[in-house]
Amino acid sequence: MTTVLVTGATGRVGRHVVQGLLDAGVSVRALVRDPSQAGLPPDVELAAGDLYDPASVERAATGTDAAFLLWPSFSAEGAEQTVSALTRQVSRVVYLSSLNVSDEDPAASGVWGEVEVLLAGADWTFLRPGGFMANTLEWADELRLGDVVRMPSPGAGRSLIHERDIAAVAVLALLDDKHVGQKYSLTGPEVLTQSEQVAALSHAIGKPVRVEEQTPDEARQVMLAQGADPSFIDGALAYWHSLIDSPEPVTTTVESLLNRPPLTFRTWAAEHANTFRPSQRFE
Ligand SMILES: NC(=O)c1ccc[n+]([C@@H]2O[C@H](COP(=O)([O-])OP(=O)(O)OC[C@H]3O[C@@H](n4cnc5c(N)ncnc54)[C@H](OP(=O)(O)O)[C@@H]3O)[C@@H](O)[C@H]2O)c1
Repeated sequence: MTTVLVTGATGRVGRHVVQGLLDAGVSVRALVRDPSQAGLPPDVELAAGDLYDPASVERAATGTDAAFLLWPSFSAEGAEQTVSALTRQVSRVVYLSSLNVSDEDPAASGVWGEVEVLLAGADWTFLRPGGFMANTLEWADELRLGDVVRMPSPGAGRSLIHERDIAAVAVLALLDDKHVGQKYSLTGPEVLTQSEQVAALSHAIGKPVRVEEQTPDEARQVMLAQGADPSFIDGALAYWHSLIDSPEPVTTTVESLLNRPPLTFRTWAAEHANTFRPSQRFE
């Protein structure tokens, strides 16, 4: 019987990886920081640990056949020790990377590329998704409480991906060695502007919603107040602005691997509509 170690198992992608593996009849061990809060299915073995505690990762990986790895920070500090500890126990690693990684210089492609480089000696598969559909949860409060969503670059075109599609590819990769050494660029099925994403959410909750454009300065202030790093903010604002004229690419990888089209944002919005609906209190 195969046992797979899942990190980030309580997260937006990881919880679907766990379910997909269980559905495939595979034993799942989840590295969790707080087992009492994990809320995972009862047949998942919980291994208490922290990605910043390499010894706990090594313990959790002992006796497993493959691992699903994410790195939970925008800095790779600490990743080298953790990757070494993990790969001492399990060589097969499916790593949740990012579409941002450039093959020309992965080490200069942010934390995702830095971790890819650390995995060079392992039997790796790199999943490189673009932005997650779940990123639109950042608008949930505005949709719940009012009828205006404020953002910079409403015309930015994004090919957001459903987290369940990333997880489905992860499960395939974890269970079949033919995916070793593959880098999969994963996107949703289409480009939608940020305004179109809001329109889809508005449709899903049955409430008219308007988009108001923030100036870069207004957006910067909001993001600073949320604790974002100033250099991250500048990079993000410039990136979203660039997507007005040069939208993100749409890849065919999900469809060719899963033999079905990627899930749409309309589907995601319908599944998550309750999160965006005013609660009884506000109706
Ligand atoms: N959002 C995007 O558009 C996007 C695009 C490309 C790549 N990514 C990458 O995707 C990953 C996030 O995936 P996600 O959205 O599925 O995760 P998520 O929903 O943000 O949840 C984070 C997961 O990581 C766990 N975690 C956090 N810190 C940890 C630590 N120190 N030790 C052990 N576990 C820890 C959390 O567990 P707890 O239950 O303990 O909190 C949780 O399961 C990140 O690496 C991100 O860079 C994101």
